[in-house]
Parts: sequence; structure tokens; C-alpha cells
Amino acid sequence: MKDSDVNGTLQTTRTQEMIYELRVQQAMTKQVITVEPENTMADVSRVLEENRHSGMPVMKGKEMVGIVSVEDLVRSFQQGNSSQPVKQWMSKNVTTLYADEPLVHAVQKFERHGYGRFPVIDRKTKALVGILTKVDIIRCMLQHLEINYHDLERRQYIPREWFSELDCDRATLSLRYHIDGANFEKAGEVSSKLKRSLQTLGLSPDVVRRIAIASFEAELNLVIFTEGGELAASVEPGRVTVTAVDNGPGIPDVELAMQPGYSTAPDWVRELGFGAGMGLHNIKKCSDELKLESKVGEGTNLQFTVFT
Ligand SMILES: Nc1ncnc2c1ncn2[C@@H]1O[C@H](COP(=O)(O)OP(=O)(O)OP(=O)(O)O)[C@@H](O)[C@H]1O
Ligand SMILES: [Mg+2]
Repeated sequence: MKDSDVNGTLQTTRTQEMIYELRVQQAMTKQVITVEPENTMADVSRVLEENRHSGMPVMKGKEMVGIVSVEDLVRSFQQGNSSQPVKQWMSKNVTTLYADEPLVHAVQKFERHGYGRFPVIDRKTKALVGILTKVDIIRCMLQHLEINYHDLERRQYIPREWFSELDCDRATLSLRYHIDGANFEKAGEVSSKLKRSLQTLGLSPDVVRRIAIASFEAELNLVIFTEGGELAASVEPGRVTVTAVDNGPGIPDVELAMQPGYSTAPDWVRELGFGAGMGLHNIKKCSDELKLESKVGEGTNLQFTVFT
């Protein structure tokens, strides 16, 4: 009990320290997707969906004249007015942030206003230079932690409270790694990196363990059976989805490959301690959802989800 109290205090201190140190411009997304006041709400719907955003600034030339969000979209659709121009539905009172403000100001604004995003403007020129969401803040803090990782006592600096505050349904944090084929020296590195990032995010130890085991098996299959590929994890409130993709030889009979004990691993791989034919079975046991698609000569796409 005492230990966790101590950790709790340190976590908060470090999180606070970071949001005072970091500036809005370090966290913001610089490429801002915008609409024009004369665009229709149907256009807004399409653009938001294509980019998986929940809101965006409305620009008349270089001047920001409003902000339009999913909520405005829902209101316009409910009233059957999707062909009306954005200018009739957007919010004209836009709360903005300056690029050079400390992140703590942004955090306070998120708390105070409950908006999903803030346009960021340059203090001198007043030009729009970015957009900031809570996910951007978390991503920036994670990168910052990663940079300082070796100097830190990891467990003391988990920004757990940040992640639990993620209340936006569309919020997704993506982590992406390349896996080299046939490189046994590096085998397992990607799943360890992923594990560390998930720990940093404050996911529960059981969830992290299941994802780490399943990712390790997926990584090893790419190392052993393919020339390499990519492992990506998508962290959303309530779930983590991991995808392992390769352009390797493919699996002729997926159902058979899923059977415990089935393996085509050559002897030299077995000598290294792999090839028991338990990998895919373990992935299934560790995950809540599993999808395995494969085409001979084209490659394999394995996707599993763990509910958090
Ligand atoms: N990405 C992949 N590309 C091509 N074949 C694959 C791939 N992943 C799995 N396989 C095939 O599916 C079989 C079963 O995979 P699984 O991971 O369950 O066992 P294994 O890798 O052979 O042994 P273990 O994982 O216990 O070390 C493999 O032997 C291989 O034939
Ligand atoms: Mg395997």
C-alpha cells in the first residue's frame, strides 16, 4: 500500500513536469485538414470519415472562421440538412491555443471546455499552424518518455491517468514496427518494444502479458517463415489490436496451421528451440478475437485483439 502511494505521487509529479516542459507545438499535428465555409455538411461527413477525425477548422482563405465537428454533423443530419453549407452549422467561437504555450495550458483547456480538439495558431502571425487532440498529447508524452527511457525508473513515470482520461471513441494510438526475416539475433525485439510501450500506457499487467506473448509468436513466425514484414498495434479505449503482415509464402491450409502441434519448421529451426507448432494456438489462447488470412504466394495477414 505504501509503495503504491509513493509511486502515485511520483507519477503525478513526472506527468506534471512533462506537461510544463513540453510545448503545444511539440505535440500538435502539423498537417491540418480543413474545410471551407461553402462546403456542404455532406462534404464534412466524407472528409471526417476518410481521415478518421471528429472535427476540423473551417477556413476562408487564410482566416479561420469556425470549427465543425461530428456533433454539428449529427445535428444537421438529424434535421435533414446535409446539403447545407458548413457556415450554417459550424461553431464560430473558436477557442485556440498558441504554438508556444506549455502543454499544461492545453490540458487545462481540455478540462475546462470539454472540446475534442483545439486549433493551434502562431502568436505573431496568427496563422493556423496545427491542431491538438488528447491523443496528440499522449503520443508526445510517450515519445518524450521513450527518449528519456534509459535514464528513468520506468515504473515511476507511467502516465496512467492520461490514458484513462481518453474519452473520445475515435481516439486511436498507433504503434508500428518492422520485423526482419531470418534475423534470429533481433527476434523478439519488436514484441519487447511493444510490451514496454503498453506498460508505459498503463495497461493492466495481464493485458500487457497476453499481447506480449501473442506478439512474440507472431513476430517469430515472420522471422522464421517469411522475409520480414510489419507489426502494428492500434490502441483504443477498451481494446488493443495487433496486426502482423507479411508478403511471404502464405499458408496453404489455415485451419491445419492453427492446430496445436502442426509445424513446417525445418530441423535447424527446431534445433534453435522453435517449431513446436504452438505459436498460432498460443496467439488464439491469449486473444479475445483472431483473424488469420493468407494466400499462397502472396502473404499472410494475422490480426488479434485483446480487450482491455
Ligand atoms: N507468417 C507465416 N507465413 C507462412 N507460414 C506461416 C506463417 N505463420 C505460420 N505459418 C505456418 O503455420 C505453421 C504453424 O505456425 P505456429 O506458429 O503455430 O507454429 P511454428 O511456428 O511452426 O512453431 P512454434 O510457433 O511453436 O515455434 C508454421 O509451421 C508454418 O507452416
Ligand atoms: Mg510459430
